[in-house]
Amino acid sequence: MDKLVSSWYNDQSLPESYIFPPHERPGKLLVPRCNTVPVIDLSDTRTNLVHQILKASQEFGLFQVVNHGVPPNIMSETMSVFHKFFELPAEDKASLTVYTNDPKRCKLVTSTLDYDREKIHLWRDVLRHPCHPDCIEFWPRKPLRYREVVAACSIEAKKLGLQILELLCEGIGIEHGYFEHELTEDLLLRANHYPPCPDPSLTLGIPKHFDPDILTILLQEHISGLQVLKDGEWIGVRPIPNAFVVNIGYILQVISNNKLKGAEHRVVTNSSDHRISVVFCMNPAGNSNIEPAKSVVTATNPPLCRGFQFKEFLDNFYSMEGDADLALQPFKL
Ligand code: OGA
Ligand code: NI
Repeated sequence: MDKLVSSWYNDQSLPESYIFPPHERPGKLLVPRCNTVPVIDLSDTRTNLVHQILKASQEFGLFQVVNHGVPPNIMSETMSVFHKFFELPAEDKASLTVYTNDPKRCKLVTSTLDYDREKIHLWRDVLRHPCHPDCIEFWPRKPLRYREVVAACSIEAKKLGLQILELLCEGIGIEHGYFEHELTEDLLLRANHYPPCPDPSLTLGIPKHFDPDILTILLQEHISGLQVLKDGEWIGVRPIPNAFVVNIGYILQVISNNKLKGAEHRVVTNSSDHRISVVFCMNPAGNSNIEPAKSVVTATNPPLCRGFQFKEFLDNFYSMEGDADLALQPFKL
């Protein structure tokens, strides 16, 4: 019973197993306040950028970037490749839906990797795979240009992410190059497909969560759906042509010793349009040590947690059903 939502969404009303409890539902207010999420022009001066990115990361944990230098054709071709991918006939996608726990392999699932155990299903299908060159042999073969286009985009996404991390390091006083190697070694791709939904007020594409990574770089189209929680209120992240959405991951919040704020966000569905988002997650290597950076810890700002291996945190995160705060609990001081 874990057929892709995209294969049946048109045939029936919203099944009960997709209905969220009342306090989690988006309700009627599907597109709440807009326009307040910061938009940062990366062609600005370095001094201005350091200031703006730091402010956005402290206040929202999420912002958009424009004039970032990623060629627009790479962005549009990436979107187009994923449209074609999700439109492929079922037989072309079948080999990717086979269960595997090999972390190098590509997985296409509906809802989450935990479909059989979860209480409520999410209104999305998702393709995920590592972006490391060693894993490309497992990437989809169709559409024909998938590997070429997605490889080009993932290289650009990582470059952009490292550039933003450098600006953040300067802003909070972490040494240059801190994130350059182990801490951003694993770039993971997640392509989400949210088909039109018969009742968007009752369900979600993804419920409220922090991304359990360092930084997330997201490509969306002209269809709204992503929202960020700010001061207890959900704010829609307005799609802007050729922009990337950037959000601070929970692990970066930990390394910054809470100087930066991880973004709590969610995705609502809509009843008329398919929505696709392409998400690049900058993740530490599994065995890398995560701890508040020494340079941000002081007598008045003591470390909030002890050091731990990234994979220990991830194990907790998945066994706590994606609750990052609970996953960090065992390491707190
Ligand atoms: C995610 C996520 C947002 C979106 O995949 O973690 O938050 O707009 N996606 O699809
Ligand atoms: Ni997310």
